Amino acid sequence: MPPIEWTKDLAVGIPFVDGDHQALVSLLNLVETCIDAREETFVLGSLLNGLADYTEYHFSREEKLQQVCGYAGLQEHKTIHRRLAGEVDAIGRRFETDPSSVETGEVKEFLRNWLVEHIMVHDFAYRQACVGHEQGAAAGEAIKLANGGVVQSNVLQLDRLRILVIDDNPNFLRLVATVLKAAGIRRVHTAGSAMKGLEWSIRQTADVVLCDWLMRDMNGVDFALKMAEMELPSRVVLMSGCSADSFREQNVGSGVEGFLEKPISAGSLLNAVLNTPSGAA
Ligand SMILES: [Fe+2]
Repeated sequence: MPPIEWTKDLAVGIPFVDGDHQALVSLLNLVETCIDAREETFVLGSLLNGLADYTEYHFSREEKLQQVCGYAGLQEHKTIHRRLAGEVDAIGRRFETDPSSVETGEVKEFLRNWLVEHIMVHDFAYRQACVGHEQGAAAGEAIKLANGGVVQSNVLQLDRLRILVIDDNPNFLRLVATVLKAAGIRRVHTAGSAMKGLEWSIRQTADVVLCDWLMRDMNGVDFALKMAEMELPSRVVLMSGCSADSFREQNVGSGVEGFLEKPISAGSLLNAVLNTPSGAA
């Protein structure tokens, strides 16, 4: 199936809602790409986690918008949201328990139908009550995707952060960048190898570097060591499919200041990014 194209026909007319929907379309297209490419389990698992987290976040923002705008269909919309979020969550949990139990065709069809129906039927219904309502939009935008899940916040200044993500798996790289950007971090840079990441880091400074542990050209531990030797100030967080316990046992040495276990979720990713001295203001 060709990827879903974002067109004006899908626009609700409320900027933050349309931004969220575009992020959901990107995640959905990435799920399809990964399924078709028979991508590694941890990548698909991370994607399904990210999709479930992002769905929850988007629904919270929409509900706050509708509440502030006094939309009469709020309770009905909430019921639909709970059912859809439950179904997305159930696919993720089923995949976690037994990846082979998740029929790829079924997942693709469900997600496509869900997204298009969600936008073009249920979301279009609240347009009249909510488009142009500035207070409603501000209240919806104040709901943030944070390390503890979905929070109401006026202080998380994610747009001030600069993040570098290094991974030699292009789909995983796209997933991490998509979730970080969708959460409100505007300055996300990606590198497909440790050497490219190092070259970028010599010219520019990231608050946090999320670096894959096992890569073809140089592993993440050696990358962190090089960063420390060169006195480059970014905080390096290793990403790996091994458990956090075995990471601690391996005592990886200088330069590594954090660990992110794959499969990731939006929450664990933001936790790694925000748990930094120059993180959230
Ligand atoms: Fe929506």
